[in-house]
Amino acid sequence: MCGIVGYVGKRQAAPLLLGALKKLEYRGYDSAGIALSGKTFAVKKCTGAVKNLRDAAFLEGTCGIGHTRWATHGAPSERNAHPHVCGRFAVVHNGIIENYKALRAECEARGERFASDTDSEVVAHLLEFYFRGDLIGALRQACARLMGSYALAVLCTEFPQTIALARSKSPLVVGVGGGVWCASDVPAIAAKNRTVYVLADGEFALLGEQATFFGREGNVISKQPLEYDAAGSIPARRGYRHFMRKEIDEIPAVLENRPHAVGLPTYAEVRRALAAAPHISVVACGTAYHAGLAAKYAFEALSRVRCEVTVASEYRYGDPIVEAGDLVIAVSQSGETADTIAAAQLAKERGAAVLAVVNVPGSTLAGIADFVLPVSAGREIAVAATKSFNAQLMLLYTLAATLAEAKGRRGYGDLLKDFPALARKTVSVGEGVRAWVAYFMSAASVYFIGRGADYVAALEGSLKLKEITYLPSEGYPAGELKHGTLALVEEGTPVVAVLTSEKLAEKTMNAVHEVYARGARVFLITSLEAYADAAELTGAVVIPPCGDVFSPMLSVIPLQLLAYYVALARGNDPDKPRNLAKSVTVE
Ligand code: F6R
Repeated sequence: MCGIVGYVGKRQAAPLLLGALKKLEYRGYDSAGIALSGKTFAVKKCTGAVKNLRDAAFLEGTCGIGHTRWATHGAPSERNAHPHVCGRFAVVHNGIIENYKALRAECEARGERFASDTDSEVVAHLLEFYFRGDLIGALRQACARLMGSYALAVLCTEFPQTIALARSKSPLVVGVGGGVWCASDVPAIAAKNRTVYVLADGEFALLGEQATFFGREGNVISKQPLEYDAAGSIPARRGYRHFMRKEIDEIPAVLENRPHAVGLPTYAEVRRALAAAPHISVVACGTAYHAGLAAKYAFEALSRVRCEVTVASEYRYGDPIVEAGDLVIAVSQSGETADTIAAAQLAKERGAAVLAVVNVPGSTLAGIADFVLPVSAGREIAVAATKSFNAQLMLLYTLAATLAEAKGRRGYGDLLKDFPALARKTVSVGEGVRAWVAYFMSAASVYFIGRGADYVAALEGSLKLKEITYLPSEGYPAGELKHGTLALVEEGTPVVAVLTSEKLAEKTMNAVHEVYARGARVFLITSLEAYADAAELTGAVVIPPCGDVFSPMLSVIPLQLLAYYVALARGNDPDKPRNLAKSVTVE
């Protein structure tokens, strides 16, 4: 995680760096800092978000680097904020230096003093140690010592109008136009008439009047510019108080993008790979993992093809049974999640074909996959994923309908056409959850329950609630509560039941009776109107009838809204939950 930026050109760098850093805050906001080049460095750091760095805007200099941090090694304090300075070098880093303890011991044995508890500071020390007048040479030598992942931007007082870059397993892009820029992602530096290049693993660059790129061996290389939409990559809040609420409102429009993916040539290739695969595996993290679980229900229900879903961090260090001919679907909004990338790499090494389902087409995951299908949700800024989840579901359900068709079960694709309109209605009725907020405000714990695909919606609803309200919450299969967790239900405990399956309705209602009998306040999200009047309920939201296989695409919407309104009422910033970041580029 963490976001890094750099600028060298004719303008004052500080305000430009601060502006770009603000766009990277989704990567972490534990602390921020900038350093400007000169005979010595002008450095300013702060704890918390970039706005706390206001004073830094007046620092003088036309070449500088900046950082917004998501703490891994060392507390989120000013002492641990980047840039880290050692002698002639200032460094910002995104990633984790896994062997930093050994390297630090080596530096300390030489008598060097460290000013922070981070893994990153060791890079500045190594640079100072190896430097003999050749900046790229020193950077290559330092990087050869590093294990783990890094995107590095480096200033050196000997070259005051130069930024040196290195990348391995953490994203880094370079922009040329209106000065020369670097950043952890494209939107931070996107502008009309600015050409963007993506640094690949093992590559280096020197930014000055122009950008010069170097390969692993230090040889100068030429790079193809990235095609990107400068205007589309900078969303605005447009009158909304928070991006999260805006992004929920965008769900219906996002679901309309489905035909775009189906029309791509890759889709035909994926259809063939799907039809030939003996079974399907999905790897993903967090919300994207829940999308995978929802897809499992659809793949298995519609085409009877076995689908396994594994949390990517478990997959990569397990010994997954995966072989040539298998299809592994890696689902990731950012396409930069370290665990998902590593799981996809492992599957590839073992001979499987990897399909990346991503919202960022130029991402690292997309780069290593055999097939890439974009979910086309548009840029998502709020840390809590909302519209990207619905978009992932739409794409995965479309694949499930395609596979079903290949197996002779037609018509499911047509059903999906109704979902944009159904989602519009669901966002509107979902606002009804505002009346429930008071019951959740100081709950000791909250439970979300459901069966089948409703259980997946419950899991996602629970994740949303905990990440932005900080209330302890669990998603549970409705039938499983009585095997232990029911012991935690007491007077006033909020329980949210999701019920869209006609077949399982009475079974889910049994769980509702059981928790109600123990004093729970029960709330229902249902597409089956008949159940909304049950005497046990404190509140109900009736979403449009939608069948049960694809229902999470709708039933999750009131749950996203519930999390949003409870977070607001508790005084939290729903867009920037504590301790979290949008792009989890470390393991
Ligand atoms: C939750 C959330 C996270 C992400 C997870 C994976 O709201 O956003 O759980 O879903 O970190 O991220 P991606 O999809 O970028 O791989």
